Amino acid sequence: MEELTPKVVRTTSLSEFKVNGRKFSCLTSYDALTAGAFDEAGIEVLLVGDSAADNVLGYSSTLPITVDEMIPFGRAVAGATKRALVVVDMPFGSYETGAEDALANGIRIMKTTGAGAVKLEGGERSSSAISALVTAGIPVMGHIGFTPQSMHALGGFKVQGRGDSRDQLIEDALAVQAAGAFGVVLELVPAELATEVSKLLTIPTIGIGAGAGTDGQILVWTDFAGLHAGKPRKFVKRYLELRSDLVKAAAAYRNEIASGEFPTQENEF
Ligand code: KIV
Repeated sequence: MEELTPKVVRTTSLSEFKVNGRKFSCLTSYDALTAGAFDEAGIEVLLVGDSAADNVLGYSSTLPITVDEMIPFGRAVAGATKRALVVVDMPFGSYETGAEDALANGIRIMKTTGAGAVKLEGGERSSSAISALVTAGIPVMGHIGFTPQSMHALGGFKVQGRGDSRDQLIEDALAVQAAGAFGVVLELVPAELATEVSKLLTIPTIGIGAGAGTDGQILVWTDFAGLHAGKPRKFVKRYLELRSDLVKAAAAYRNEIASGEFPTQENEF
């Protein structure tokens, strides 16, 4: 079916996927080379996440990254992508101060990166920013549950929507949808609740640490590729062991230089 294998993935394609029960995949990307590879693999959505803050820029959280810092990552990913929908995260401080700021920053991101949509965090509290952007013609992906930009208010990296906060999470999901978002990320939400929210909403849900009942899944690419040292978090599946392979490759390179094995005549001009 053509609409289920679109030549170019648009926000409307994700709705079609949901209607047809076709699960879709999303990965973060911050550079042209990974974007080109993930796009070629058929990943439907590439998120230029503000997780670039810790994964690329070495900050200890996503809070410090700015719009100025996000733009080159967005441009690199959008420029290397032929088919996937590219979504750029609006960083902390770029939309919380009101709809006018959200609009100015959203327009700047869309104009300068070539992305197809933006993402911002928060449910009811972000609905006026979402609706201002959507009214201006900018597609918005919401993000509720654990929202890393509010990690201090949430008391750290914790599952959300348990106990008393369950109803609020459902309210947040409905508010994001009512504000006009085309999809919503559910991060660190109990699987049973994420499944219920996915059935309740007409827009697609994208889970990370939210079980198998969401319409799509997202992982941070450095997690999925095993680029971090140490044990991965419970919701991560590593499809590569890139860090240990890089360490092995770098050691082999170093040893071959020391022994004179590299370069050879084949590498000469
Ligand atoms: O910035 C990011 O990587 C994200 C994902 C965790 C969804 O927002």
